[in-house]
Amino acid sequence: MTVHGSGPQDAGREDHPPERDAPVVELRGAGKSYGNIRALHGVDLAVRPGRVTCVLGDNGAGKSTLIKIISGLHRHTEGELLVDGVPVRFGSPREALDLGIATVYQDLATVPLMPVWRNFFLGSETTRGRWPLRRLDIEGMKRTADRELRSMGIVLDDLEQPVGTLSGGQRQCVAIARAVHFGARVLILDEPTAALGVKQSGVVLKYIAAARERGLGVVFITHNPHHAYLVGDHFSVLRLGTLELAADRAEVTLQELTHHMAGGAELAALRHELAQVHGVDVEELPEA
Ligand SMILES: Nc1ncnc2c1ncn2[C@@H]1O[C@H](COP(=O)(O)OP(=O)(O)OP(=O)(O)O)[C@@H](O)[C@H]1O
Ligand SMILES: [Mg+2]
Repeated sequence: MTVHGSGPQDAGREDHPPERDAPVVELRGAGKSYGNIRALHGVDLAVRPGRVTCVLGDNGAGKSTLIKIISGLHRHTEGELLVDGVPVRFGSPREALDLGIATVYQDLATVPLMPVWRNFFLGSETTRGRWPLRRLDIEGMKRTADRELRSMGIVLDDLEQPVGTLSGGQRQCVAIARAVHFGARVLILDEPTAALGVKQSGVVLKYIAAARERGLGVVFITHNPHHAYLVGDHFSVLRLGTLELAADRAEVTLQELTHHMAGGAELAALRHELAQVHGVDVEELPEA
């Protein structure tokens, strides 16, 4: 499927000459309706190698819908999804994975009772020897998992420990290292820091940066503008299913990003309303 060149789909793409950081994945005017509910509409997004694209937005803004389209879980109902410049429609997450698009979900990524190294190879176990003597290459898998985790800067005392005994942050990191090892070009992380404390969030953000250094295109979904701003190269803010803001890092400050996330206009209106209410000191309220 990684077709380059001048197919009919490439017609009219002169404005996008092949460049080193050409998008691996791109949405153009993409949208998704669930029956009568239009969850996403007219969204443009580019995921480039070696860059972190942050997708922000309030509950129900359409963040998960957006990544489900890219990861092959749902099909878009309007616009286009392109991989390496070629329009695609994924029938399953497997098809997306085959093109190097890996998704790490908050909880579903690992099996708690299995050792770390087994989780690392889950579904892709390596074997040694020939049938009928073929068996799991346990030592080989342990060595590889250890090497890959260390190369991402993750040092665990014991790879035999069940994944369930790791912290939430460490579990995310194992899933990230696994995606990198199995050749992901695009890494999608759905709210990886949502359930984590400050320190653990920092650890996950560090590995997001490590994945970017490896040249992966990272899509980082979050509610938290501070987390986004620490690692993001590009910011897309969704509101009620459409893009409210799309800006490169140089074009937006953390304050502006926070303002958009907080629903700046709504906050200003709320401030005005509260000013009429006796007993509320609007001077004490945060600036909208
Ligand atoms: N399978 C579905 N069927 C019908 N409506 C859906 C479905 N999935 C999502 N929606 C609706 O689409 C909208 C966007 O939902 P989505 O899950 O993409 O938001 P989100 O930004 O990920 O929110 P959250 O921060 O709560 O995870 C919501 O109004 C939601 O109710
Ligand atoms: Mg969601």
